[in-house]
Amino acid sequence: MANSSNKISFFLNFALVLSLLLLLITIAEGRSLFGCDLFKPSSTLSCDKVVGVKSDDTCFGLAKTFNLTETVFDAINPNLNCTALFVGQWLCIDGSIN
Ligand SMILES: *[C@@H]1O[C@H](CO)[C@@H](O)[C@H](O)[C@H]1NC(C)=O
Ligand SMILES: *[C@@H]1O[C@H](CO)[C@@H](O)[C@H](O)[C@H]1NC(C)=O
Repeated sequence: MANSSNKISFFLNFALVLSLLLLLITIAEGRSLFGCDLFKPSSTLSCDKVVGVKSDDTCFGLAKTFNLTETVFDAINPNLNCTALFVGQWLCIDGSIN
């Protein structure tokens, strides 16, 4: 009787320790993810070359002209609305993100 109750309490303690450990790991991971999210917007984008939009230019066409992948083009032109390009708008066609 006492023996089985000891086993149960040992198991409960073990489960408690395990769940606390998992909780701590979750918190630690959450913090690092949060820190990463905080860091991302503060990464600096430097644009080395810009081009002015001419009539009939499209994001796709410009990316192709300057040999940029869509991913790179989007990365160096954050918050760009490609359906609302206007003539004379400056687009980045060469840059780096640090
Ligand atoms: C475009 O990129 C490809 C592959 O990197 C390269 O071979 C080609 O010369 C580039 N073209 C221009 C116009 O830069
Ligand atoms: C992009 O521009 C178009 C045309 O002005 C507009 O309808 C659309 O809502 C814009 N999209 C975003 C994400 O701002």
